[in-house]
Amino acid sequence: MKVLVIGSGGREHALVWKIAQSPLVEKIYAAPGNPGIAQLAELVQIKVEDINSLLEFVKKESVDLTVVGPEVPLSLGIVDLFQKNGLKIFGPSKDAALIEGSKAFSKDLMKKYNIPTAFYEVFTEVEPAISFIKKHGAPIVVKADGLAAGKGVVVAQTEEEAVSAVKDMLSGSAFGSAGARVVIEEFLKGEEASFLAFSDGKNIIPMASAQDHKAIFDGDKGPNTGGMGAYSPAPVVTPKIHDIAMEQVIKRAIEGMYAEGRPYCGVLYAGLMIDGESVKTLEFNARFGDPECQPLLMRMKSDIVPVLLAVAEGDISGITLEWDEKAAVCVVMASKGYPADYVKGDIIKGLDAAALIDDLVVFHAGTSLSQGNYVTNGGRVLGVTALGPTIKDAIDKAYEGVNRISWEGAQFRRDIGQKALKR
Ligand code: AMP
Ligand code: GLY
Repeated sequence: MKVLVIGSGGREHALVWKIAQSPLVEKIYAAPGNPGIAQLAELVQIKVEDINSLLEFVKKESVDLTVVGPEVPLSLGIVDLFQKNGLKIFGPSKDAALIEGSKAFSKDLMKKYNIPTAFYEVFTEVEPAISFIKKHGAPIVVKADGLAAGKGVVVAQTEEEAVSAVKDMLSGSAFGSAGARVVIEEFLKGEEASFLAFSDGKNIIPMASAQDHKAIFDGDKGPNTGGMGAYSPAPVVTPKIHDIAMEQVIKRAIEGMYAEGRPYCGVLYAGLMIDGESVKTLEFNARFGDPECQPLLMRMKSDIVPVLLAVAEGDISGITLEWDEKAAVCVVMASKGYPADYVKGDIIKGLDAAALIDDLVVFHAGTSLSQGNYVTNGGRVLGVTALGPTIKDAIDKAYEGVNRISWEGAQFRRDIGQKALKR
């Protein structure tokens, strides 16, 4: 069969890498893809937002299955459009993708279906928002309602910081219309984990556990990024925590979405805050996490294509997933300046040397080809991902890969996976 993967990041490189191993697949396209993906797939120069051109392409090439990586085309209704045209596509409908597209919707869903989360209120006006902040005090968390490329959350340490975040968002200067409503919520402490599951709207298949590293600097310091590294399994998700998360978060969300007339098909990603035996939901995403996808797919032993197809066809009841006992660690290498304005066009050295390491894959995120050289072309540039018998082995191997790769000003965290070692 022919498969199209939509997106151009490390997540999509990992998806293409995994799909390419399936005996069911003879051809993969990626739109728009990146130079790493180009080693495994034919790139198609269509932007992820251009869902009508993607539809035309899939019809013209008789693509059998389309897999959507990022949230933006989901929120634009690509799944609805493809299904209306009788095409198989992996991902939630526009109505279901609102679970990520609107934080107010997602928090109201959590409240209605008794999914544990931080207490909150939704505001469209500055004055009542300020009163709420004054009443509850800092630390407190301010979130833009709409999609803000992972940057719409301010964990304010002081009331002043919270008030200025609210003003920036509600005035439209921070995130445009995505900030026209804000959610203000209780600050939660604990350790985060990413819990991902496949669903066909009713049935659920949980994936292995994972943990992201959102802050730019070691020790979770500095501003949040899209994610500077991830590993799987995450020991913070003990069997007990897994069961609580399945029962109280994932099942209630899938049942709630069904009851709301928005059946959820695709990958549901719950960001969890775990504190002892308390599991609270920070957010839902309507897609694979990036970089969580990279270590997860390196550990997935089963062919992914039957799963993706079963979700697209609306029945996963016959599917089981097998996971490698080994651990996987992904260290993200980012451009100088990221997550603020960053430098592009630096020549990346050492990719060939890193590729010689067994059980290690360098997933491309923000790269491009220039005069025969791979050069930096995005904030997050590479996801160096390794498998090892233990988390410690996987960490050591991933950093051996990182140490072979270099460019001017490359930044990466040196403590990816350390929380797992501490447990
Ligand atoms: P979100 O996109 O809602 O997951 O928020 C991004 C990041 O902000 C999370 O991964 C957490 O690190 C942090 N965060 C979000 N909500 C809270 C909260 N209520 N308490 C503490 N930290 C939070
Ligand atoms: N790594 C966090 C996310 O994909 O949202």
